[in-house]
Parts: sequence; structure tokens; C-alpha cells
Amino acid sequence: MSGMMRAVIFEAGGPENLAIGSVPIPQLREKEVLLKVYATAINRADTLQRKGVYPPPQGESDILGLEAVGVVDKLGAGCGSSWKVGDRVMALLPGGGNAEYVASREELLMPIPKNMKFTQAAAVPEVWLTAFQLLFTVGKVKKTDTVLIHAGGSGVGTAAVQLCRQFGARALVVAGSTEKINFAKSLGAEEGFNYKEAAFEPKVLKHTEGKGVNLILDCVGGSFFDQNINSIAAEGTWVIYGLMGGSTINTGDHLAKILRKRITIVGSTLRARSVQYKESLVADFTQRALPHFSSGEFRPIIDTVMTLDSIKEAHALMESNKTTGKIVLQVQEESPKEEL
Ligand SMILES: NC(=O)c1ccc[n+]([C@@H]2O[C@H](COP(=O)([O-])OP(=O)(O)OC[C@H]3O[C@@H](n4cnc5c(N)ncnc54)[C@H](OP(=O)(O)O)[C@@H]3O)[C@@H](O)[C@H]2O)c1
Repeated sequence: MSGMMRAVIFEAGGPENLAIGSVPIPQLREKEVLLKVYATAINRADTLQRKGVYPPPQGESDILGLEAVGVVDKLGAGCGSSWKVGDRVMALLPGGGNAEYVASREELLMPIPKNMKFTQAAAVPEVWLTAFQLLFTVGKVKKTDTVLIHAGGSGVGTAAVQLCRQFGARALVVAGSTEKINFAKSLGAEEGFNYKEAAFEPKVLKHTEGKGVNLILDCVGGSFFDQNINSIAAEGTWVIYGLMGGSTINTGDHLAKILRKRITIVGSTLRARSVQYKESLVADFTQRALPHFSSGEFRPIIDTVMTLDSIKEAHALMESNKTTGKIVLQVQEESPKEEL
């Protein structure tokens, strides 16, 4: 180790402002583990951070990247868990993942499921933990529920559909193309609606015999607000976790509808949660969801694998809205010895 590493750096602006720079390898704080990163991925939060509108939580790395997978390189002071140098792990990070090395809290590491390559595992932490948290921790989904999943072809959406199928809840998706809807159906969605062709609200109501859906996973916000409020069933839960369609809503009798239907509206962000909250989420996910990857019942959905050097293209591709599933960045080649 030279003390320096390659990492994604940027100046606020468009994807063209991204570059690979040389920065110091992170110093470990108490209870942190140093990972040699083999693969990482990008998320919408990175594109917002790049634009200068979503700074990292205080005290955390300002390098982009909310997830990374690789090999444990070093254990910091106070590490008490069973991780050891050489373990193959996935990390949920508050930042810093788009680099050759990253420091992670030991509690936020997960073992890479058996038979999974680094480039596949890099598609798991952020979107699967988000979908798992939205459905179970925040949305308190029940097996009898019908769930409306917006951006059904997204990283979070494709994970949520698979989690619903395995759990036994009915999943309906909204997406912007027939291809994305058909793909979501292949993962277990019962039906899908193309919001670019027609309003989804009447179709959701028809499909649910006028009752509406019990849970909405909403990463669109403003532009779908009116349709969501009409699509939700009495006593439904509406989880707002993204604002891709804006943060303002039309005037209207929204409050009357919320009151009459006794709706619960809840906001959710994962990155800013406490280490204790994330630790418990990671432990729950490791126990309840990870075994289903080894069995093949769950699969990480990957649109494209690129190298870290293609970071500009990766951000531009995500912002084109053309992807289905994740954009993964390979950081180091996986040698056959290290594989599986
Ligand atoms: N709160 C949290 O803790 C948390 C954590 C992770 C992610 N998120 C949020 O989850 C969302 C999905 O993230 P991701 O990484 O899974 O995204 P992604 O894979 O990049 O997919 C996003 C998809 O959303 C659709 N979309 C974009 N703008 C839209 C609009 N205005 N109206 C309707 N659909 C639109 C596009 O597909 P089509 O239009 O073709 O359907 C796009 O491909 C983002 O909003 C992200 O910020 C939140």
C-alpha cells in the first residue's frame, strides 16, 4: 500500500465533472474495518451529491459511493465482531465506496452469499436494504397486502418486487416502458402499468376491484401525488422515499382524502439513519433475506457493469432513465483464486 488510492472525485455539476483522483487511503476509526474494494455501484443519491444538493452526513467521507464489496484488509481498534482479514464482504456505506479502499463500520458488513461474484454482490447492499426496510420496517407489509411499487424497473423496485413475491404479498408496478413492466412481471409482479401511456390510477383501481392498494412505495413524489392518493385503499400506508417527480404538489382536497381514508403517510431515508438503526437492519436482512440469494430465489438485477474509470458514463446512463436494475463499477479484477 502506497498510502494513496484511486477514487471518484468531482466538482459540483454534471457527469462531465467526475474524475478519478489520487486520495489518501482512509484512516480507520474505532470499530471500522478497511476493505480492499473489488466492485462498487452507483445510486441516485450519488447523482444528487454530484449536483451539490445532497451532502454526505456530517463526519462521513465526501467520496461518492453508498456501497462496496471486497475483501477485509485490516481491522481497526475496538473491532469485536468475527470478521477477519481475507473475508469476502459487502458493505452498506454512508459514502466512500467508489474507491480502491473504504472504511466501513464492522456492524454494517454482510458476508457475500455463496457462489456470488463481486460484480454481482455490488448490486445488493443499498437497493436491497432500502427495499427490505421500506416493505418490512417502515411499511409493515402484510401477506394479504397489495403493494404498488413505483419505478418498477429501478434498482430498489426490482428488489422490492422479489421481496414481495417471496413474502407472499401482491406486487403491482408502475414504470415507463413495456420492457421494464415485463421484466418486473418476470420477477413476480402481478401486473404493471406504463405511466407514459396512460394514467395508472384507474388501472390500479380496476385491478383491485375498486379497493386500491394497501401499501405504496413512492420514489416519485409530486407528479404522482394525485394519482397515489386516489390509488390507496382505506387505512393504507404510503411510504415516500424519493422525489424524482418533484417535491411540490397541486392544490386540492388532499387532506380530506387523507382524513376519510385514514391513510398513513411516512417519509424514509436510509443514509442519514443512526449506526444502531442500520446495524439492526443489516442483521435482520442478513438473517431473513441473504439465504435466499444462495438458494437462487433472489437475484441481484444488473443493467451494466463498467470499470471505475467509466464513472462519467455511469452517471449519464443512470440519469438517462434507461436502465433496469443496477449500474456496477468494477474496481479490481477478480482473480480465479479469489472467486467464490
Ligand atoms: N430514501 C432512501 O433511503 C432511498 C434509498 C435508495 C434509493 N432511494 C430512491 O429510490 C429511487 C430509485 O433509486 P434507484 O437507484 O433504484 O433508481 P434507478 O435504478 O436509477 O431507477 C430509477 C427509475 O425511475 C424512473 N423515473 C425517473 N424519473 C421518474 C419520474 N419523474 N417519474 C416516474 N418515474 C421516474 C425511471 O424509470 P422509468 O421512468 O423508465 O420507469 C428510472 O430509470 C430514487 O428516487 C432514489 O433516490 C431512496
